[in-house]
Amino acid sequence: MPKSTSAPRVLVTGGAGFIGSHTCVALIAAGYLPVVLDSLVNSDARSLQRVACITGVEPVLVRGDVRDAAALDHVFAAHGIEAVVHLAGLKAVGESVADPLSYYDVNLAGTLALVQAMGRAGVRTLVFSSSATVYGDSQPSPIAESAPYGAVNPYGRTKAMVETVLADLTQADARWGIACLRYFNPVGAHESGLLGERPHGPPNNLMPYISQVAAGERECLVVHGDDYETIDGTGVRDYVHVMDVAEGHVAALRHAVRHSGILMTNLGTGRGASVLEVVSAFERASGRRIALRIGPRRPGDAPAYWADARSAFLAFGWRARRDLDQMCADSWRWQATNPHGFDDPAPAFTADL
Ligand code: NAD
Ligand code: WQD
Repeated sequence: MPKSTSAPRVLVTGGAGFIGSHTCVALIAAGYLPVVLDSLVNSDARSLQRVACITGVEPVLVRGDVRDAAALDHVFAAHGIEAVVHLAGLKAVGESVADPLSYYDVNLAGTLALVQAMGRAGVRTLVFSSSATVYGDSQPSPIAESAPYGAVNPYGRTKAMVETVLADLTQADARWGIACLRYFNPVGAHESGLLGERPHGPPNNLMPYISQVAAGERECLVVHGDDYETIDGTGVRDYVHVMDVAEGHVAALRHAVRHSGILMTNLGTGRGASVLEVVSAFERASGRRIALRIGPRRPGDAPAYWADARSAFLAFGWRARRDLDQMCADSWRWQATNPHGFDDPAPAFTADL
């Protein structure tokens, strides 16, 4: 909880989103004051009211676009920003294939606009939301940060390009301290049941889809293929609790404040779980049976990948602490408590931070 209004102010772009709102909780718990810039194109401002229910602090929301230089200059001038956590972006792989220019505009040009505004304001500490999709689908697991870029879709390429831009920036100006966090598969929700993921429309991702099947919102999970060479034939991924990811941002921020240069690091558990293992864990957590059927493989899916998770611990003492059962339990609590997402009244919760 911030000790006083002199707490360091951190600009969190995309801070009303799934990972951003959870990151605001972790930042406040660590004594920072988040200031959120978000266009709300894929989120709900009420997520920040939920952050307040959990922490007692409601982050300031500046509704705006990360590509808007004037809006950025105003935020830095008005709020005394000392560092930036940059999560604002578009993240749907399939959409990026259909509409690549929007992804290059928001994810790449938006980051360029942000770091240029940071330079004008003399703020040179940045944590960037990267993704395991920079590795592509042909790297052997566990995947270490030394693996080459191999993105196979425009979304992953925007993340790799941003990392390259940021690396060049730190080469040109040693005053910058930057951490690029390559998240694997963030899932789950805050343990309070107050905050979670609520995708617009039918979920593309596994965990929110299973959650809606358990709640009776969706009839049946279609498993995208069960003929992969994995433990049970279904796809294997490194699921990591969103609060672990959020706390990883705090640890990375503290590192970027103290170290110039750039660090690329995975945020994952270092363990893979198959689709059917996730289904079983969710059935245990919810007490609900998940109806499913086996469908064809999804184009572009890799059979299996998970992180080499050691470097985050070596660099800034972070490791994932929450297991798959807790990811499912927290997802279910969010789903069951808020069947209509933020349209539901916030349940009572007392923070024990
Ligand atoms: P999200 O869509 O919930 O959050 C992104 C936020 O950015 C939203 O609040 C959205 O309104 C905002 N936004 C989008 N375009 C903007 C713009 N032009 N200006 C200002 N705000 C804008 O997604 P998320 O899952 O919280 O992802 C956050 C970040 O993490 C993204 O950069 C994403 O690429 C990255 N990431 C996500 C995952 C995942 O599985 N969720 C995995 C790896 C990386
Ligand atoms: C996980 C597994 C599916 C849905 C995506 C993005 C990646 C990152 C994280 C942004 C796979 C299977 C899924 C369903 C299924 N996001 N599945 N039925 O594809 O690993 O990664 O989210 O950075 O960029 O690609 O996650 O949750 O979509 O799939 O069988 O209805 O679940 O085949 O094996 P993915 P996912």
